[in-house]
Amino acid sequence: MIDKQTVDRILDAVKIEEVIGDFVTLKRRGANYIGLCPFHEDRNPSMSVSPSKGIFKCFACGKAGTAVTFVMEHEHMTYPEALRYLARKYNIEIEEKEETPEEATGRLKYESLILITEAAQKYFQDILWNTEEGKAIGLSYFRERKFTDETIRKFGLGFAPKGRNNFLSWAKSKGYNPDLLVDAGMCIRRDDGELTDRFYNRVIFPISAIGGRVIGFGARTLIKDEKPKYVNSPESLIYDKKHTLYGITQAKGEISKRDKCYLVEGYADVISMHQAGICNLVASSGTSLTQEQVLMIKRFTNNITVMYDGDAAGQHASLRGVDMILGEGMNVKVVTLPPEDDPDSYAKAHTHDEILTYMERHENDFIVFKSELLMKDAQQDPIKKAGLINDVIESLSMIPDAVTRTVYVNVVADKFDVKTDVIFNRINELRERRKRNEAQRNPYPQRSYEPEIMEQATSVEGKKGITNIFLAPNEKELVYYLIKFGPYRLIFPENMVYGAPQTPAITVAQYMRSELEKDDESFTNPLYKNIYDEFYATFGDVSYTDDEHRDAVENAVLRHFTNNRDKEVIDMVVGMLNDAQPLTIKQFRTSIVPEEDTLGEMVPKSLNLYKFKVLEFICRQLTAELGEAQKNGDTERRNLLLAKLKEYSRAKTSVAKSVNRLT
Ligand code: CTP
Ligand code: MN
Repeated sequence: MIDKQTVDRILDAVKIEEVIGDFVTLKRRGANYIGLCPFHEDRNPSMSVSPSKGIFKCFACGKAGTAVTFVMEHEHMTYPEALRYLARKYNIEIEEKEETPEEATGRLKYESLILITEAAQKYFQDILWNTEEGKAIGLSYFRERKFTDETIRKFGLGFAPKGRNNFLSWAKSKGYNPDLLVDAGMCIRRDDGELTDRFYNRVIFPISAIGGRVIGFGARTLIKDEKPKYVNSPESLIYDKKHTLYGITQAKGEISKRDKCYLVEGYADVISMHQAGICNLVASSGTSLTQEQVLMIKRFTNNITVMYDGDAAGQHASLRGVDMILGEGMNVKVVTLPPEDDPDSYAKAHTHDEILTYMERHENDFIVFKSELLMKDAQQDPIKKAGLINDVIESLSMIPDAVTRTVYVNVVADKFDVKTDVIFNRINELRERRKRNEAQRNPYPQRSYEPEIMEQATSVEGKKGITNIFLAPNEKELVYYLIKFGPYRLIFPENMVYGAPQTPAITVAQYMRSELEKDDESFTNPLYKNIYDEFYATFGDVSYTDDEHRDAVENAVLRHFTNNRDKEVIDMVVGMLNDAQPLTIKQFRTSIVPEEDTLGEMVPKSLNLYKFKVLEFICRQLTAELGEAQKNGDTERRNLLLAKLKEYSRAKTSVAKSVNRLT
């Protein structure tokens, strides 16, 4: 954890135009900067960067945020990763916050293991470049495979020398705890209790997590026909194979830029393709693709093209994995390389342009590819053919989008000369069955609420909550006033009937809280509620003193929320800052009067409108219940509900008067 003071120091140092300037060329335009937006294919500069507000916004694609969110999005980092990145850029030393002993143990263990694997990577790399053995065996092997020095460095390749405890003695001499060497997968404990190196006399391919930290290794033998060809790091606290894709660190930027990811099998395939300039590609490292890996790719693109070796042998085994990609709603294509070739050999024998041309020409839709592949198998055998149609339909049933599915149903019906109805029926059957199975596995089925009023929303902790979408716009508007004008003094127009008298001065935040507490209301949208609660927890009532104090609080509020640990909060708040207009009552703002001078009128209005909607919502529910009671002939309940409804309607009418001009 990075402590708050350090975060503040980082944020103080950060100049958004410098941070973004590392990725995009910015030109001055008045008080702001403009540049090409890196988040979409921008041809004319659409992104505006405001140094004074510390935010950026693209007017074409709508992407907006702070320096921190820019780094998070562009570099695909988490919040702490982005802070560390910025700390490095501005030479700020990170002081980690004191943790509980449990936190510390968990984190320390994780950190210690990563320290070991990162040190090991440097160790193997150093041996490759700087020892006779490394140069003579490892380096010459890579060069024989036509890897350039630049490529060898880019992928951090290394060499583990002969001998069973070179690494072990080196690591011990550096003071690493032997038990942790085992936990990091670098050493093996023999039956007699002694430790020995896992990797020796092999070339080393470091494997990194998405942020670039080394978490494991693949080590290839140089001896022909030695088994196993690769020795790999075992699963560990830091190396979770199903969450790892070889090459993702180097590829992620290109994947999102090209909006496409090629998928290959091996380390060598990734490296050679990169060297040929095809950098939007990753490897599943020989295992079948996992859902986690697919979701990782989906963070960068919806388009996957699987590259198959020329010989069809491997193809059947991986078809299942591809069904899963379809299931994630991604577009899957397939490229088959010429016979005898794998991506590695093909990349080496062709230029960048030749490779691209080949891939464009031979890229095939997965469903079509699968149909044709299976058709070849089935030939004239009618039983086999029926089986294969079902197989293809199984793939179709995985596609979540109904429109896409329908398009393919027609393709397949055509290809196999089967009626579309038959295919649709079978798809529905399969989807029903899957739904049932899922429901069985999930012991907490979702309750159904009145659909046009309630929707699922994700709260800040990622828990599902229920949002009342009827109230949400008003909640959002109140949050807008709170964040943007919380510490501002409310000056009520003279003829206004609402609210407290002028003295003592009251701020927007104080007024809002007292009004909402009076009615015991709290927001239904988890995001808004969280921002609201966090506001008061962090800044208290924000009582009014003077302009200077107000500006300081205003800045602190903006900083707090635009650098929140919850990305959703940041997006929402940044959106508000860009969005100068309140949402539901914007028609009442005259563009000439500064917004802050309208607060005395607008904030009470916004609150009353909210109260009105709450009451209206309650009345709607009561009316529905009333209907129910009537139908069941439950007179007692009916009378009770009627009385309630009357009461609420009266309240509603009285609030309606004060929001009169709005309804
Ligand atoms: N693999 C593995 N263990 C093995 C064999 C293969 O982990 N015993 C994984 C590796 O990630 C390898 C991938 O499966 O990169 C593909 O295997 P293969 O095509 O045999 O390896 P290449 O990396 O292509 O090796 P090379 O071209 O050097 O023979
Ligand atoms: Mn290979």
